[in-house]
Amino acid sequence: MNNQNQRRDFIKTSAILAGGIILQPFGMPGAYASGTDQIKLAVIGCGGRGTGAVFQAFDTGHNIKLVAMADAFRDRIDKSYTPIFEKYGKDKVDVPEDRKFVGFEGYKEAIKLADVVILASPPGFRPDHFEEAVRQGKQVFMEKPVAVDAAGIRKVLAAAEEAKKKKLNVVVGLQRHYQDNYRETIKRLHDGAIGEIVGGQVYWNDGGVWVNPREASQTEMEYQMRNWYYFNWLCGDHINEQHVHNLDVANWVKNSYPVQAYGTGGRQVRTGKEHGEIFDHHSITFTYPDGSVIFSECRHFPGAANRVDESFQGTKGKVYMSAGNHGEISDYKGNSIYSHNRENNPNPYQVEHDELFAAIVKGEYKYADAENAAKSTMTAILGRNATYSGKVVTWDEALNSEINLMPNTLAWDAMPKVLPNADGYYPFAIPGKTKVI
Ligand SMILES: NC(=O)c1ccc[n+]([C@@H]2O[C@H](COP(=O)([O-])OP(=O)(O)OC[C@H]3O[C@@H](n4cnc5c(N)ncnc54)[C@H](O)[C@@H]3O)[C@@H](O)[C@H]2O)c1
Repeated sequence: MNNQNQRRDFIKTSAILAGGIILQPFGMPGAYASGTDQIKLAVIGCGGRGTGAVFQAFDTGHNIKLVAMADAFRDRIDKSYTPIFEKYGKDKVDVPEDRKFVGFEGYKEAIKLADVVILASPPGFRPDHFEEAVRQGKQVFMEKPVAVDAAGIRKVLAAAEEAKKKKLNVVVGLQRHYQDNYRETIKRLHDGAIGEIVGGQVYWNDGGVWVNPREASQTEMEYQMRNWYYFNWLCGDHINEQHVHNLDVANWVKNSYPVQAYGTGGRQVRTGKEHGEIFDHHSITFTYPDGSVIFSECRHFPGAANRVDESFQGTKGKVYMSAGNHGEISDYKGNSIYSHNRENNPNPYQVEHDELFAAIVKGEYKYADAENAAKSTMTAILGRNATYSGKVVTWDEALNSEINLMPNTLAWDAMPKVLPNADGYYPFAIPGKTKVI
């Protein structure tokens, strides 16, 4: 059946479900606006992940055309455009000069031209980009984390509600939700395979990421934007940027979000000027509404033992999961309850797009990932608040915080809120002194 017929059938079905009243077919104001079967795609944030996501969108095999690209920097658009064009060619890539948008505001124009948008800038901008995409009625794939502070989380939560009302599919790149071992294992946990979950440990311990050194010609704004991982208004600290994946698994397994956090963190090995203001380690206990406690640890220590995984203990057994397709459930005598078959599992990054575009092509409304993504991002921010302040911080306090990390003005000659001292070093949080609420 071609897409046109599928859509007609779908409209018929929704009319029947709605008691004969023809509904907007699950709110598709963006997709197919042109009346053709082609889905127009725009990418906002043309770095590693934005480029990869475009590849994955094309690799779904649907009739998709990339029509617009937006990035803060022109060279990033060029670096992304070339491999996309070389691989997929002019039939799929139609981004002339006037549809390459550079700077802070270009996302609005790029979104306008598309049916589906990929949002893959640094996370500080995600709330504004997502809010605009939903305002314009577009279907969304957006990367995690979805914000860096409570002000951003509140914006994403409001836009998530709006997206639900408009029936816009939203998939978020917390790809464990699209990974077989997590889906199969957590389904069994929710069915009671190990009883009540009473504790757990989640880790992202590795050697850290890239640094983009300062160049003499850069304004402070450009430097921070290029070296974005190390500034909280852009990144939210590595607990937000990476460990959000593992915290999200804890929330998924617990089927709830923590009520408070208490933790320790600091800068032990990554202390240079180029390392901005973020910590290199955080250890936190998160308390959930039922009183159970999940321990979380993330650190960037080159040369130390790496560990990125999740374990949970229940009243009747335990489970081990990791991104390497592990899913091992056993009782406390060592008897296996479930062992996930790790062979030939599909790539979850591809599955995200396969499922999103399949829903869009069929005219279905199936994915509303933004609310959970906002709350899992909030979990990471809560953890950061605990380690930065050294205090017990509750979810409600953290979510209602009035602290907004974004600069007052976004322009190349404007100043971010955190600035270096005369020696080039940035201030960072001191537990016991720093206020986070
Ligand atoms: N799900 C995953 O496993 C996974 C993996 C990698 C990255 N990511 C996420 O993807 C996002 C991007 O990461 P990346 O590794 O691609 O980083 P990157 O630095 O390679 O790309 C980010 C791009 O966004 C651009 N940008 C900055 N400000 C912008 C703005 N205001 N408007 C438009 N573009 C802007 C940058 O210039 C850069 O080209 C992050 O949130 C990251 O956590 C997710």
